[in-house]
Parts: sequence; structure tokens; C-alpha cells
Amino acid sequence: MADTETGSSRPKQWVFNAFTMNTPGHLAPGLWRHPRNRTSQHNDIEYWTDFAKTLEAGKFHGLFIADVLGQYDVYKGPGNGEPGLPGAAQFPISDPFMPISAMAAVTKHLTFGVTASTTYEAPYLLARRFATLDHLTKGRIAWNVVTSHLQAAAENLGLIDQIPHDERYQMADEYMTVAYKLWESTWRDDAVVRDVNTKQYTVPGRVRKIHHEGKYFRSAGPLGVNPSPQRTPYLFQAGTSSAGKAFATKHAECMFLPGMTTDSVRKSVQDIRKQAVEQGRDPSTIKLIVGVLIIVDETDEKAQAKYEEYLTYADMEGSMTLFGGWTGTDLSKFDDDEDFQFSGPGSIQSMVSSWSATIPGTNGVKWTKKRVAQELAIGGAHPRAIGSPKTVADILQRWVDETGIDGFNVSYAVNPGDFEDIIQYLLPELRARGVFWDDYAASTARENYLQDGRGPRLREDHPGSEYKWPAE
Ligand SMILES: Cc1cc2nc3c(=O)[nH]c(=O)nc-3n(C[C@H](O)[C@H](O)[C@H](O)COP(=O)(O)O)c2cc1C
Repeated sequence: MADTETGSSRPKQWVFNAFTMNTPGHLAPGLWRHPRNRTSQHNDIEYWTDFAKTLEAGKFHGLFIADVLGQYDVYKGPGNGEPGLPGAAQFPISDPFMPISAMAAVTKHLTFGVTASTTYEAPYLLARRFATLDHLTKGRIAWNVVTSHLQAAAENLGLIDQIPHDERYQMADEYMTVAYKLWESTWRDDAVVRDVNTKQYTVPGRVRKIHHEGKYFRSAGPLGVNPSPQRTPYLFQAGTSSAGKAFATKHAECMFLPGMTTDSVRKSVQDIRKQAVEQGRDPSTIKLIVGVLIIVDETDEKAQAKYEEYLTYADMEGSMTLFGGWTGTDLSKFDDDEDFQFSGPGSIQSMVSSWSATIPGTNGVKWTKKRVAQELAIGGAHPRAIGSPKTVADILQRWVDETGIDGFNVSYAVNPGDFEDIIQYLLPELRARGVFWDDYAASTARENYLQDGRGPRLREDHPGSEYKWPAE
């Protein structure tokens, strides 16, 4: 399909992210045992540097690293983390920031999108870390802004109960303001001259404080880190509630949309673009991507056999553990043969009805909790594209055509194996169809995602731009 937004007859160029986490069991508990899976080496730096080199060889836009600050402990709980341990259901989990410098050293174009929460850390600390990484990656850092939704995280970080959902977003909004002020306004563009003749590293008068005193945060500034290529990292977000969407359409430059069917995602896409315009944004500066599990091989049969072989490693207790953390629903409270198509919480019924709508022959089949856990076993609550290069490309094309999304956040069963398969089998097919680039457009994150030729800094319609302090 042509790119109608830009009026170009060239097909829309898709965004491809690899979706991962610093854990052996991101979205496929139990698969850590599979011989093609290296995720149990996630504490080795070579695991990350090899992974980054693989993705850059395939010209993936970015490596996106999810993160949570506590254990999933709803299933068979509350407060019980045990059922997730054998399958490594997002536990153990290490810090997502630490591997980035090493990966940056072995790549030149790949973006690193890292998840960090606005709920548990002072804005100055995070702003400083991102600015430092923006330097070390030469402008290839992105921030997935989350407000954190686990009770276990609150308990790890000094609270008895979580801060209420909408208030977390109010805090996040002020947090962003403080961060923008630190990144964009404390150093004038020409502050650092490193002039040996005048003996000036930084020119006095070109660095200033911010004196932020708000409802939730105080920060005097200036930021300790001198200007980095992007200043503000490229911003990802995934809010789905009304508070979350209002936050995302104001701040995000790339959004992950949940959704199992093209109908529900199309409605989200339309809603988000409309809300972005209402917030004074140009919607083309917000890329919208959906999560997808891709299993590809030479033929449909080989890909399907590979998926079924992966499933033999799946850990259902781990799936139910993840499900509990995501939805707050403890599946152990339901009978083994209860049919979720007709009973149980609305959130599961709507998930089940979207599955049965998309999986042929499953309408009228009983949707027990075992079945729910199986559907979630690999790739989480995301659509799946399994088949030959043509089959997978057709599925992805249908998603782009029917929803208007800009690309995909690709999850895996085995890592890096599934990404190697995508590079070997799928990307040549996408390139032949003209929907995936031959090479990176530029070297910074913002330029590669937006591809609008407008440089590495925040776009003028973005609220953080009002704090920019240009050279005189
Ligand atoms: C693809 C995707 C990735 C996400 N990654 C994370 C994550 O790494 N850490 C986290 O705390 N929340 C993550 N979330 C959750 C969102 O940040 C958000 O809390 C959730 O979508 C619910 O939105 P709401 O709080 O607006 O209701 C993710 C959501 C999606 C759809």
C-alpha cells in the first residue's frame, strides 16, 4: 500500500523492533531450555553484543528492552512468586541499562530502547543516565516511559501500596517536564567550545539552572551532562487507559499498541492520531507499532512444525504467572474445565473472543484455562505470524493495510534463532515488496524512526521543544 500520509507512491517503510528483556523468560516461559535459545546467558555481555550485531546486520531499527521492578506474584497468590520460577517467567531479571554501552561499542546504527519508570526514581538521576547513554551511543538511545503497574514493584521500592493509576500518570507528566527542562534548557547549544586559546571548556553564562518546584518534584539543575546528540532520548510509550493515552499522545514519539485483532488496533490507531492532533502534535511524528510473534521458515509446514516443537518446551505455570501479573487475575481460582468464552472476568472473555475470531475452527471449542495458558505460551498476548516468507509477509501486510500501523515490535520463542530466521527468510521478501529499507537512514534513533530528514532533536510540535535554548 502506498504511503498516503506523505502522498508518496513509494510503499510505506515499516519499522522493525526486536522486543526483549534482560531475563531468560521474556514472553516464552520454559523456552530457556531449548537448544536454540541463548537467553539463559543473559548475564553474559557476549550474549548482548552478539545479539546487537545480528540485529544490525539485518538492519532492525531497534532493540527494545522491557523491564519490571518486581516479581509476578498474582497467580496462586497474592504475594507468591514461586510458580514462575521453574519457567523463568520474567524472573530472574537484571538491569536493562547495563548491556547498552557494550552493544553500542559493536554497532553504529541500531537504536537501544530501554524501559524506565517515572514512579520510583528522581528525574535528575534518569535524565543524567539517558544523557550519558545518548553520548555513548552517539544518539541511539530511546526511553520506553512506563509508570509501573506491579504491586510487587511498589513493595520493592519503599511503598506499602502502589500510587493510584491515574496519579502515576500525573506524576509522569511532571516528570517529563523536569526531564525536558534538564535536557533541553540547561545548556545553550553553543555552551561547550573546548577552546584552548581562550582556555574555555564551557563558556560561563551559557549554562543555567531550572529551579523546578512542582507538585511532585523539585530539581534545581543544571543537568551535569553537556549536550548530547538527541538531547531528549527518542520516546516510546504503551499506555492504553485514557490517562495512559493522554500521556502518550502528548509525549510519545513511538507507541506500542496492544491488540489481537486488526479491528481493535485500527480503532486505537484512529483514536491516537486524533488525540495527537488535539494535543497540537503532527501525528506523523508518532510511529505506531504492534507486538507480533514471527516464526518463519522456507515453507509453511516447516514453520508450523518449528512452532509446535517450541510449544513442547512451554511452561504453562509460567504463562499463568505472566497472565496474573498483566491482568491482576489469578487463574488458579478457576476450575480446570471452566469455559472462559462464557464466564470468568471480562478481560479474559474479550481475549478469548478475539482469539476464537482469528483462529479458525475454535469457535464453539471449550476455552479452558489450559487453553488460555497455551495461547499465551509463546509471544504473549500478541498476534502470531507463522509460515513461509510469503505467508508471514502477507499477514504483516494485512495488519499494516487494515490498521494503518507503521511497523512491528517482534517477540520470539528462541533468541537469537528466531531473529536469524527473520533476517534469512523474511526480510528479503519484505525488501522485494519495497516495505523494508536496505539500509539505515541516518545514525541517530530519532532520524531512523521518523525518517523525515529533520535531524536528531525533538520535533517542533513536541511539548519538550518549548524548553530548547538555541545558540545566539
Ligand atoms: C508492547 C508493550 C510493552 C510494554 N512494556 C512494559 C514494560 O517493559 N514495563 C512495564 O512496566 N510496562 C510495560 N507495558 C505496560 C504499559 O506501560 C502500560 O502500563 C500498559 O499498557 C497499561 O496501560 P495503562 O497503564 O495506560 O492502562 C508494556 C505494554 C505493551 C503494550
